Amino acid sequence: MQGLSPSDVIKPEVREQTAYTLKHFKADVKLDQNENPYELPDSLKREVVDRVLARPWGRYPEFVPAATTAALAKFTGWNPEGILVGNGSNELIQAALAVTLGPGRTVVIPQPTFTLYKLMSKTLQARIVEVPLNSRDFTFDVPKLVEAARSADVTVICSPNNPTGTLLEQDALVEVLKNAKGLVLLDEAYHEFSGQSAFPLLATHPNLVVLRTFSKAMSMAGLRFGYMMAHPEIAREVHKAKLPYNVNIFTLAAAELVIERQQVLTAAIQTLIHERDRVMDELRRRPLVTAFNSSANYILIRTAQPARAIFDALYAQGVLVRDVSSYPMLDRALRVTIGRPDENDKFLAALDRSLDQVLETK
Ligand SMILES: Cc1ncc(COP(=O)(O)O)c(C=O)c1O
Repeated sequence: MQGLSPSDVIKPEVREQTAYTLKHFKADVKLDQNENPYELPDSLKREVVDRVLARPWGRYPEFVPAATTAALAKFTGWNPEGILVGNGSNELIQAALAVTLGPGRTVVIPQPTFTLYKLMSKTLQARIVEVPLNSRDFTFDVPKLVEAARSADVTVICSPNNPTGTLLEQDALVEVLKNAKGLVLLDEAYHEFSGQSAFPLLATHPNLVVLRTFSKAMSMAGLRFGYMMAHPEIAREVHKAKLPYNVNIFTLAAAELVIERQQVLTAAIQTLIHERDRVMDELRRRPLVTAFNSSANYILIRTAQPARAIFDALYAQGVLVRDVSSYPMLDRALRVTIGRPDENDKFLAALDRSLDQVLETK
């Protein structure tokens, strides 16, 4: 850049951050992004294409996608006026933080958690108060969270938390909601695997904002779709920070059809929950591995070896997991997504070989 350096124009809070990136390694067994390994049926995909072919591609989508919002209102039981749709829930995280945070505003973020929250909060120049999870089992430190929420404009909670898989119990969430000064942004990206949702609390707690995604249990990560449920007055304000026409007609059609046919996903979700419990039992039989309780479709593990060495040894055998050892408190930790039973078996066998190899080369 001739004559102009990034430090002249880019905010220092942005320059000091590392971008949210992921190298796309190719692998036979891909267990690194908490996706659903079961694709939607081809017949359903074709129906989406037919619906989209019947619409003009040269015209914008509706300003407010009324049909999708109505379908979501029916699906969730929430007031359509309090529902916003996004190009992935990431976009709604950005919009919700954009209308609440800025210099002089405070956000509470438990750590470790989904990194986008801190990155966005920094970009918006907010004051960040980090509340560490309990180091023994990565459960939420509820008294500290409640205390911090008392003076925060936004309190972020991912439940189940990524990458630890820990759930915030409903009574603890109520405690946070009752004491929070500002909004409580509850990210339920993995709620389908947890058997718990904060949904029943929405009607009685106007400071609760629930974020959900179609990228995980709903098997639509490639199409980018997420939604927010909040008090209509809050939704109206967040709407102002969303880009117009943010969700394209293809994704809207797919989301509507997946909601209509939601039963096509039931068996896959049940299998994944069952597999998570099976893989957890298997891991707990291995003395060299610590596996932490998970209410999501992934498991956080720790071994005595450097995470990178185990990651590389797994990858050499065609199994891709996520090295999360650079997250706060997650030294020597890896996160493994639950795949199909055959994929999980390959992971377990590859893990055993990796542990042997890494021990031998020490
Ligand atoms: C907690 C959490 N929230 C949001 C997202 C992003 O979801 P989306 O694909 O809807 O943007 C993820 C993805 O990994 C996540 O783990």
